Amino acid sequence: MKEQIEAIQTEALAQIATAGDERSLDDARVAVLGKKGTLTLVAASIKDVPKEDKAAVGQLLNAARTVITVALEEKQVILREVADRAALEGIDVTLPARQLAVGSLHPLTLIRDQAIGILRRMGFALAEGPEIEDEFHCFDALNTPADHPARNEKDTFYFDSGKLLRTHTSSVQVRTMEAQAPPIRIIAPGSAYRRDEIDATHLSVFNQLEGLYVGTDVSLPDLKGTLEYFLRELFGTSTEVRFRPHFFPFTEPSFEIDVKLTIKGQAPRWIEVAGCGMVDPAVFDAINRSRKDDAFDSEKVTGFAFGMGLDRLAMIRWGIKDIRLLIENDVRFLKQFA
Ligand code: PHE
Repeated sequence: MKEQIEAIQTEALAQIATAGDERSLDDARVAVLGKKGTLTLVAASIKDVPKEDKAAVGQLLNAARTVITVALEEKQVILREVADRAALEGIDVTLPARQLAVGSLHPLTLIRDQAIGILRRMGFALAEGPEIEDEFHCFDALNTPADHPARNEKDTFYFDSGKLLRTHTSSVQVRTMEAQAPPIRIIAPGSAYRRDEIDATHLSVFNQLEGLYVGTDVSLPDLKGTLEYFLRELFGTSTEVRFRPHFFPFTEPSFEIDVKLTIKGQAPRWIEVAGCGMVDPAVFDAINRSRKDDAFDSEKVTGFAFGMGLDRLAMIRWGIKDIRLLIENDVRFLKQFA
């Protein structure tokens, strides 16, 4: 048996030595140590060895197994190295790595975050409300009569239930005042929807940023100062801003704000960016009726509100000619903001 074991070992070591790749090395391993391997079969026949020889034969078997296993492991390491070296052949490992494409924020996100940042520093807190609204929060509480054109089916997206897609973020004014007593100083960025004819400055879904400030002694100069400061923070101190008298059912007096838009190669033009005004006492009255208290006593509290078009602000900020670029997701456009 001793000779048999030695022969198996010699044979196995020879096979290992000639194995040229990992697969033939594995074949060699299975041939000797596998379930039906030569050494395994010999080990199984140890039961037939006379008692007094068993220990010696066992030792021989173990020694052979150890020698073969070590040889297998060493050869494995060598073969791996050879394979790795072959895989790298012809590759210039000193070449710089490929650049990973890093994404960037959408211009609307950038302008919204900047706007929020400025207004938060001025003490405005974030508020929100649903995009699917009811007529009370979108119109009635905002002093908008039933025959007002904004309530028309032609201008507003209605659901069969009578609910609608909010036409402006001013509904968040109402929801905030229902839930909170003065003083209030909030901003509410969000989407608004209108059945507008789509062109270079209009989409049927756009982005607004609403603001509401209610307290005692809030006055028109506060409104003007706040919004002028805001627009100059956003666009630079030399930004030209103008307030035009306007009408909104929920503010009195009301204004539209224009900023001068200058695009290279085009004549400068005024572009409307916001509506604003002093909160109409009729709005406070509607809120009190809804709250069933007198928290917004229009003899004691005053306030101002504004609603800005974030898309328009982005267009001015970066001289974007067409609002549709903001929703088309053309990478050539978006890349410019990376
Ligand atoms: N909600 C008005 C609009 O969408 C803007 C506005 C907000 C005007 C607040 C006055 C006060 O046009």
